[in-house]
Amino acid sequence: FSLKPYNTFGIDAKAKYFAEINSPDQLIEILRLSETQTLPILFLGGGSNILFTKDFDGLVIKLSLKGITIQPLNEDKVLVTAKAGENWHEFVMFCLEKNLGGLENLSLIPGNVGTSPMQNIGAYGTEIKDVFYNCKVLNLETLEIEAFDLEKCRFGYRDSIFKQDGKGKYVILEVTFQLTTKNHQIKTEYGAIKSELENLGIENPTIQDVSKAVINIRQSKLPDPKQTGNAGSFFKNPTIPLAQFEELKLKFPNIPGYPNGDFVKVPAGWLIEQCGWKGKQIGNVASHTLQALVIVNATGNATGQEIFDFSTEIINSVQEKFGIELEREVNVI
Ligand code: EPU
Repeated sequence: FSLKPYNTFGIDAKAKYFAEINSPDQLIEILRLSETQTLPILFLGGGSNILFTKDFDGLVIKLSLKGITIQPLNEDKVLVTAKAGENWHEFVMFCLEKNLGGLENLSLIPGNVGTSPMQNIGAYGTEIKDVFYNCKVLNLETLEIEAFDLEKCRFGYRDSIFKQDGKGKYVILEVTFQLTTKNHQIKTEYGAIKSELENLGIENPTIQDVSKAVINIRQSKLPDPKQTGNAGSFFKNPTIPLAQFEELKLKFPNIPGYPNGDFVKVPAGWLIEQCGWKGKQIGNVASHTLQALVIVNATGNATGQEIFDFSTEIINSVQEKFGIELEREVNVI
């Protein structure tokens, strides 16, 4: 069974078995059935943060649960619950149509709602942890449904319990966000948003305007996976000790950095560009011409192994030039 339509890199990896499920009951049923088979199982959401380097000799379960509900929370907030298989951007647009605020900075992020908590998706000054209420998960050991609140999810930068202690133990079934119905908190501190709003001639932006600005910025530098296979940022932005940053600054005076206590977060895209990778193509794989942090399946015919090898070369050259070890953000299978 080809997984090509199910991963945004467009890698033609094969799964031995494939099932698409639409309800928690179906999921539990298929897990009970496959228990006797001792098959490896892989759960798939939107496939926007995954790199298949080989065929998967097991069962791939695509999570397609659908539905959105809204409940009042207090005077100026509601709880909005979306099932795991809802497309993230369509969900954000649904909320904006209803004038519900909080997700506008996260417009146009590829993937599904159910995977958004895994890596605490974030962009343009917002992370989902800022508006997260809770999520319902299926515990794969007990096959019971459990609720995880904000604290239990242990969100960090591109991180959560689902990538740490909870890895492989739960399937996220639905996510609930607390969104504003009025007095929206407009977040435009991320430089590019301000200048884009200026370009649009907007002085007092609404949440819909902020979304529009974010969409414009993303479209101007991030490749559309429908046209060119990619998984967004391939690496995390590394965090290094302040002392190391100061030392690097002597040698590379232009190095950008966002201080955070005794540490500094350095944009991986800058490091990669400085190593000469931006826009560079080897075989079927390239670093995106407008954003070096994004690796693309340039010809559409790349294998996952080729992309993985390309990323290893990037890691090695950044290590050599800056002494910084880049960490992959995508899930490598
Ligand atoms: N930069 C370069 N060269 C490049 C790319 C970036 O020098 O080729 C420099 C820019 O000059 C800028 C800085 O790096 O000063 C930051 O660039 P940008 O605003 O594009 O953001 P980023 O740090 O590269 C992160 C997220 C993105 C998110 C943007 C906007 C990570 C790993 N990536 O990228 O998330 O959209 O910020 O908030 O944190 C994703 O996770 O897939 C993703 C796209």
